Amino acid sequence: MEKIVSLCKRRGFVFPGSEIYGGLANSWDYGHLGVELKNNIKNLWWRRFVQSRDDMVGLDAALIMNPKTWEASGHLNEFTDPLVECKNCHVRFRVNEHWSDKVWWDLARYLAQETLSAQDREDMVQEALKVCPNCGEKRKFTVPKNFNLMFKTYVGVAEGKADTVYLRPETAQAIFVDFKNILDTTRKQLPFGVGQVGKAFRNEITPGNFIFRTREFEQMEVEYFVHEKEWKKWFEHWRNEILAWALEIGLKAKNLHEYEHPDDARAHYSKKTIDFEFDFPFGRKELYGLAYRTDFDLKSHEKFSGRNLKYKDAETGEEFWPHVIEPSLGVDRSVLAVLIEAYDDSNPERIVLKLKPKLAPYKAAVFPLLKNKSELVKLARKIYDDLRVHFMVAWDDRGNIGKRYFSQDEIGTPYCITVDFDSLENPPVGGTVTIRDRDTMKQERVKIDKLGEILHKKVYE
Ligand code: GAP
Repeated sequence: MEKIVSLCKRRGFVFPGSEIYGGLANSWDYGHLGVELKNNIKNLWWRRFVQSRDDMVGLDAALIMNPKTWEASGHLNEFTDPLVECKNCHVRFRVNEHWSDKVWWDLARYLAQETLSAQDREDMVQEALKVCPNCGEKRKFTVPKNFNLMFKTYVGVAEGKADTVYLRPETAQAIFVDFKNILDTTRKQLPFGVGQVGKAFRNEITPGNFIFRTREFEQMEVEYFVHEKEWKKWFEHWRNEILAWALEIGLKAKNLHEYEHPDDARAHYSKKTIDFEFDFPFGRKELYGLAYRTDFDLKSHEKFSGRNLKYKDAETGEEFWPHVIEPSLGVDRSVLAVLIEAYDDSNPERIVLKLKPKLAPYKAAVFPLLKNKSELVKLARKIYDDLRVHFMVAWDDRGNIGKRYFSQDEIGTPYCITVDFDSLENPPVGGTVTIRDRDTMKQERVKIDKLGEILHKKVYE
């Protein structure tokens, strides 16, 4: 991880947020290469899951929603993390993160009994948690408190209850809240889905591991509406789609694992949840989630809003709330997994980011062999200008070619194009350049007027 964090900062993928003010814990900014990689991931997702499918449409909803949304969704009451503090070192911990699932659930169940005395609660907590993960002090914990993860803020000038709003903790809810408008404007028939990419905010108690868990992050979510009797079929469909997507962005099957949540550990809205886990350097952790949300959300929003959110079957005339399958993918976790998978320093001579070409920030770099030969620079510049109409292309004329290759390898540029003295000659060598492959380090000579076509084939096919 240290190597990746360092490369990200050094080359402009990800910087610590607000660094000149001493930073803001666990906030990160995407630099000039990071924003390209991240956009490429989001665009690929959008293309694959929204634009390329007849059964999908997109949405881009407001981030701050009417606060009733979060009452209806259950987030105001249920979106909490049990939190304990060590009375010795005053560090707070999420119980479900620092102790096993079993400890957490046993404790949660036990504490849920309303008849327990304060002393019983205190004893139970010390018995379950035993030792502080930070200072090692024994049996000095506070009784877990539930802590709502939503960020609260205010609209308007007065800070009063009536003006309290929340930053959305997931993108999903807007899709349910807009369901009627989506139905009326698209006239979609079941099964169909709505995709959305956007920021979500959670006041995580223990963010960390670089961009793995942050308080501000992006999600790519689909709410897929189906007939109840077909939920299993569509759950399987999306399960396969998530796996196919993970492979498409370059993650290896051996590093991906499925974990099905046990009955008593699922989110309040879900009847079946699978986590897609990835072998991160800091352990096997959730990368994506897939949940069967039943008709919980539409039903609940109908109740809270008083508006009819049912779907009317065009053939039978039957009205009902469709059931929902939700594949939910984190953008930042995708970026991190992609970087981890691509990072290769097995050759001590060079670091290579073996990114899939379609995700790489630059698809190619163009070099004039020598900086001080104006004919070389002129031709290289022309090639660069022509290519950049269609591709993100880097320009580098500094130092020797070996150093330039090294520099591009490190940021994952799949192809380097060099304009040399042969390029200036008469045909057959004239009008050609070398194109060097990042992974094989092999070079081939190709015609300049075929470069665009060749590059397109190599990157996108
Ligand atoms: N709408 C369902 C939902 O939000 P989730 O499992 O809480 O489900 C879905 O989140 C995905 O969002 C996760 O699998 C992860 O990729 C990403 N995610 C969640 N919390 C995150 C955080 N604090 N930082 C970065 N990514 C996060």
